[in-house]
Amino acid sequence: MCGIIGIASNKPVSINIINSLKKLEYRGYDSAGLATLDNNLIDEKKCSGRVDELEKILFKNPSNGNIGIGHVRWATHGAPNIINAHPHSSEEVSVVHNGIIENSDELKKDLEAQGFKFKSQTDTEVITVLVTQFLKNSKPLISVFKTLKKLKGSFALGIIFKNFSNIIIGARRGSPLAVGYSKEENYLGSDSYALKSMTNKISYLDDGELCILDKDNVEFYDVNQKKINKKIHTVSDDENISDKGDYKNFMSKEIFEQPATIKKCLNEYTDSLKKDINIYNFPIDPKKVNKIVLIGCGTAYHSCLVAKYWFEELTSLDVDIDIASEFRYRNLKFNSSNLYIFVSQSGETADTAAALDICKKNKVKTCSIVNVVESTIARNCDWVLPIHAGPEIGVASTKAFLGQLIVLYILALKLAITREDIDKKDYNNNIKSLQKLPEAIKNTLKLESEIQLMAKEFLDAKGSMFLGRGNSFPVALEGALKLKELSYLHAEGYPAGEMKHGPLALIEEGLPVIVIAPNDRYYEKTLSNTQEVIARGGKIFFITDNKKRLLSTNIRFRLRVPRVDNLLSPLLLTIPLQLLAYHVALLKNCDIDKPRNLAKSVTVE
Ligand code: AGP
Repeated sequence: MCGIIGIASNKPVSINIINSLKKLEYRGYDSAGLATLDNNLIDEKKCSGRVDELEKILFKNPSNGNIGIGHVRWATHGAPNIINAHPHSSEEVSVVHNGIIENSDELKKDLEAQGFKFKSQTDTEVITVLVTQFLKNSKPLISVFKTLKKLKGSFALGIIFKNFSNIIIGARRGSPLAVGYSKEENYLGSDSYALKSMTNKISYLDDGELCILDKDNVEFYDVNQKKINKKIHTVSDDENISDKGDYKNFMSKEIFEQPATIKKCLNEYTDSLKKDINIYNFPIDPKKVNKIVLIGCGTAYHSCLVAKYWFEELTSLDVDIDIASEFRYRNLKFNSSNLYIFVSQSGETADTAAALDICKKNKVKTCSIVNVVESTIARNCDWVLPIHAGPEIGVASTKAFLGQLIVLYILALKLAITREDIDKKDYNNNIKSLQKLPEAIKNTLKLESEIQLMAKEFLDAKGSMFLGRGNSFPVALEGALKLKELSYLHAEGYPAGEMKHGPLALIEEGLPVIVIAPNDRYYEKTLSNTQEVIARGGKIFFITDNKKRLLSTNIRFRLRVPRVDNLLSPLLLTIPLQLLAYHVALLKNCDIDKPRNLAKSVTVE
């Protein structure tokens, strides 16, 4: 997604803007730029491609201003080229923007009818022209308020002004925006990561709020232009996200970190001595909850799908799940005895945040399961359950997925024992099974060399199918998503029992089919589905935890993961699929950490 930086200082800012933009690269982007104020002139420099390109431009032609804004752009309106790169400047102002202005075409038409000429295809340039127009008769703050009133859609903005060369104005509606504080310097940024190399004192704007900062002061205003105070948080110190250590990319680091991150998460939530789960501050009395509604996008949605089986198995609760972009437009019937759980690694996904807003407006209780506790979704929920996975930089989510699964499982267990849906003996046994996971994950990762061999068989494939039943079906979806987003190969995840209702037509000689078949109550059924595929020439890659030798010789590859409690098998079965996608992408020389067209945090609809 786009990323924004603003710095007001007593010394030149361009190097710190570049360094902060590099901290935002993990969000995914295709162009970059900055603008500083130097001798009351707006000095704008932009490039298509990476921040390194912008750094080279500055090296040849330095920017010396003590105030400036920077931006990495993920194209929404207009091609990813230098014209459309941010900032967008007029003689008077320069603007950087994250979000989508939904009425930009209409505003552009009005302004063109008044004689304004636009240089770019972006929605952002409309903001630049509007602020410039209002500045003729108003001060910067009023000019920005007047502009915001005309905008529909989402934005996080950073704006500098030629004739007010000591201030930066920031504004937020929908897309996240933070303010950072330091001695003789203050900052604007899309998230706290971008500012962490300069400060850990952070305030977060809420929707409709606006800030005006210079190197010594920061003021905040609400949507009614009333001055307000904002809390200053001291942001936690995560391990250094810019450090890949000995790994060649963040994704491999994050896959191999999973034994440690799962162990950390378990330590946070389970007391292995007391054999209990440390979750107490429920926003609703667990005995009064009737229904759980799980909402997320992408991989986070897949963790909700797995959790549905767990809540059904362990509790007497009704469980609904939904994709956030669908949930937000449904004609929903809310009930105060429902608990709405939002799963999001970044805590900034626009669709998930919008779904949460609808729940808040309907005054129902909400919980978020996130990796970034300072995020928008976390701050807007009644209850936050962090996954403690540490910063996840690779766009393809791996350790965060397992962290989400652990917290969802632990929550289901805690609800089950508190509601007396399970007895103490089962509760203790389930907690004991959890403690075995870090070692089991470590042993699963040892399959990497076999998976590297498997990966070669996908290079010339037209496509692939991932099949599973029960809580292996969401694992099939997640495995297909990983392969798609990392290697750009078509892959489909399907319930194994559904093959005969159409997808079997896709099976032809040599088509790779990954079958996920733990030794659970679906195993025999999945074996029959496997035979149906073999009979039509499919090339089977069989992933199981079953010690029994497979009868059929027509299995191309058989991977056996360690045996754990059936309910927990999705956490192990996912790992070979993460590694498979990783190695296929490596063989295809794809950009492992920043796959094309994708962003780490999708903060627009
Ligand atoms: C996962 O590999 C993808 N990058 C994507 O599906 C991601 O899970 C989705 O965008 C949700 O992001 P969130 O967890 O930060 O809300």
